[in-house]
Amino acid sequence: MVAEEEKAEPLSAQAEADGEGKYKRLEDLPGVGPATAQKLRELGFNTVESLATAAIRELEPAGISEKKALDVIRVARSTLSLTFIRADELLKMRQNVHRLSSGSRAIDEILGGGLETQTITEIYGEYGSGKSQLCHQMCVNVQLPPERGGLNGGALYVDTENTFRTERIIQMAQHLGLNPEDIVKNIIFAEAYTSDHQMFLLENADQVVKENNILLIVVDSLTAHFRSEFLGREMLAERQQKLNKHMHRLIRLARAFNAVAVVTNQVMAKPDVFFGDAVHPVGGHIVAHTSHTRLYLRKSSRGPTRIARLVSSPYLPEGERVFKVTENGVEDISEDDEQQGRR
Ligand SMILES: Nc1ncnc2c1ncn2[C@@H]1O[C@H](COP(=O)(O)OP(=O)(O)OP(=O)(O)O)[C@@H](O)[C@H]1O
Ligand SMILES: [Mg+2]
Repeated sequence: MVAEEEKAEPLSAQAEADGEGKYKRLEDLPGVGPATAQKLRELGFNTVESLATAAIRELEPAGISEKKALDVIRVARSTLSLTFIRADELLKMRQNVHRLSSGSRAIDEILGGGLETQTITEIYGEYGSGKSQLCHQMCVNVQLPPERGGLNGGALYVDTENTFRTERIIQMAQHLGLNPEDIVKNIIFAEAYTSDHQMFLLENADQVVKENNILLIVVDSLTAHFRSEFLGREMLAERQQKLNKHMHRLIRLARAFNAVAVVTNQVMAKPDVFFGDAVHPVGGHIVAHTSHTRLYLRKSSRGPTRIARLVSSPYLPEGERVFKVTENGVEDISEDDEQQGRR
């Protein structure tokens, strides 16, 4: 495969140099006619952006030769300028990373200012710890302007447990003084019935993401279907392979569209742990390595109060803060709450 790539004719310098921002639709790419475009769409590549981050073998089922696949991906890449870059340019790209507020200043602080675009943030914790509530809150927050912690964008919510509630979004929007009717219109909802369906939804999400200016993609829960469908040791390898593919699809969407990606995850008891936390997130190494940032939520003994812990981040220290989930949504705890707690 590598040898083939090296041997393949370089794309005309003209096509690569001209690429940036030029190719809007698949058919605009040199060498892609209506028939090829149709095949690519059937494979879930609806936009030039998604093609730019595709692997050559992913185009195989469309009957596209390896050489042609390489050419097409290269031109698509030139659109996004995804090539070798210097570290100073990388820093510039990092500056293009935006941050979305969780609704709680305390959580934002441990995350270094909010949830980042271009990477996956995993929220894990036991039932009722506030994972879905946080996801709902961010669907509202993403629509706020940057000065209020938002990204002026829409949200895509892939729900696997039938727990998304528009009523809850309305409550949260009202609390922030927003027009609930506008807010609910900018959230695209999809219920995933099986793990395959869940994968299918993301594989075909690029067009929806692009057309609706989606800057937040939620998968709640990432692991529930996979966990219930792939039982026992003999199915573990297949489960992990599928989860890996699914997570990579999500990373690519987040990169191509500079969006925030959030997945939720359940926890399992660790029977052999006597000290410290006796739980760990489901999904093993695949989920651990593909989630760039992992946030662990716990309930506290004090009603709406929750504890958020940053467990893993590429560059931030671990940290733990409290927040609360109330009728208003996800909020910081107030001085009153703290005083009540001390009493
Ligand atoms: N309208 C509301 N007013 C106040 N608190 C609420 C409201 N809606 C939900 N909550 C709080 O959020 C909790 C549910 O949290 P959430 O659904 O986010 O849990 P989860 O972590 O997603 O759990 P699971 O693993 O079961 O999906 C409720 O138990 C309640 O404490
Ligand atoms: Mg939930």
